[in-house]
Amino acid sequence: MNKIFSGIRPSGKLHLGNYLGAIKNWLALSEAEGIDQTIFAVVDLHGITTPYDPKKFPDQVMDTVCDYLAAGVDPDKSLLIRQSHVPQHTELAWLLNTITPVSWLDRLPTYKEKLEQTPKYHNMGLLDYPVLMAADILLYKSTLVPVGEDQLPHIDLTNEIAKRFNSTFGNTFEPVKPYLTEGARIMSLQEPTKKMSKTGDDGIALSDSPDTIREKIKKAATDSGKEIKYDEQNKPGISNLLTIYHLLSNKEISVLESQYAGKSYVELKNDLAEVVVNFLKPHQEKYNDLRDNPDKVLKILEASEQKAREIAEKNLKEIKQKMGLG
Ligand code: TYM
Repeated sequence: MNKIFSGIRPSGKLHLGNYLGAIKNWLALSEAEGIDQTIFAVVDLHGITTPYDPKKFPDQVMDTVCDYLAAGVDPDKSLLIRQSHVPQHTELAWLLNTITPVSWLDRLPTYKEKLEQTPKYHNMGLLDYPVLMAADILLYKSTLVPVGEDQLPHIDLTNEIAKRFNSTFGNTFEPVKPYLTEGARIMSLQEPTKKMSKTGDDGIALSDSPDTIREKIKKAATDSGKEIKYDEQNKPGISNLLTIYHLLSNKEISVLESQYAGKSYVELKNDLAEVVVNFLKPHQEKYNDLRDNPDKVLKILEASEQKAREIAEKNLKEIKQKMGLG
């Protein structure tokens, strides 16, 4: 039986990359056979390792939770938690810190990237970020982690830490597998050689209005040549648009290529914009309804967090005992 854990930082509006790379797979796995625990977190403690506004932060956390629920995460089947409301995450992170060499952390690409983006924000939390992520996963003895491609180095590190724990203190953790599908690397609309991110105009937010979506897709970078053909190397812009179209419409890429043979980029973009608008319409209706009912959302969180703390405490007790802290 597999145990699933995944999370998203509440550091801005969620975008189609977060949906197609992560949340879509969360939903599929919650329905799959052979799964006996699914926990999805808003990883607010990771969110505060980069610049943020403490006044706006609680709202961003609620936005993220409402996006999870609107996308279809079912609180009757999965636990939906705020990371900071289950204090065992940070306690386990500290314990794992003591077996993690610094040299495993300062070479990670995500750490270097963040330092480049915000050089003045060089805090310990940023360096330690992947250990907290390992703690998130191992705290629940999770075995399968649905994420986008950018998170693979963190999953590798989680396995390294787990292996070191097992060999030092006795067998405790099973190997952790990432779960990736075709949406694992959705690219920026503006610069299709970079991944879609939460900043600027390069992503479509799940909350974007129909006009904003149409405008962003109209402005999306396309490639030289006129042919509508999937070719990541030479046509990254069109390939990215075809991937998004395929994943939201369930039409195979080859079917789309035939459908648009001899047609212009503008025609593809106009149709894709309507596919995205129609896909997000029900999501946004549910999201707005949840946003108007914060008490209902808080109740869901509190019930989930209570259960998560119970699982976490049981596992943490075992871990501490093995470490000589019983
Ligand atoms: P974060 O908040 O950057 O992104 C959340 C999830 O969205 C995926 N993703 C993408 N997938 C496809 N294309 C994209 N352009 C794209 N951009 C983002 C990410 O791969 C991720 O799955 N460290 C994590 C959060 C985290 C976590 C965890 C995840 C903390 N603890 C434990 C899993 C398990 C992060 O910063 O994700």
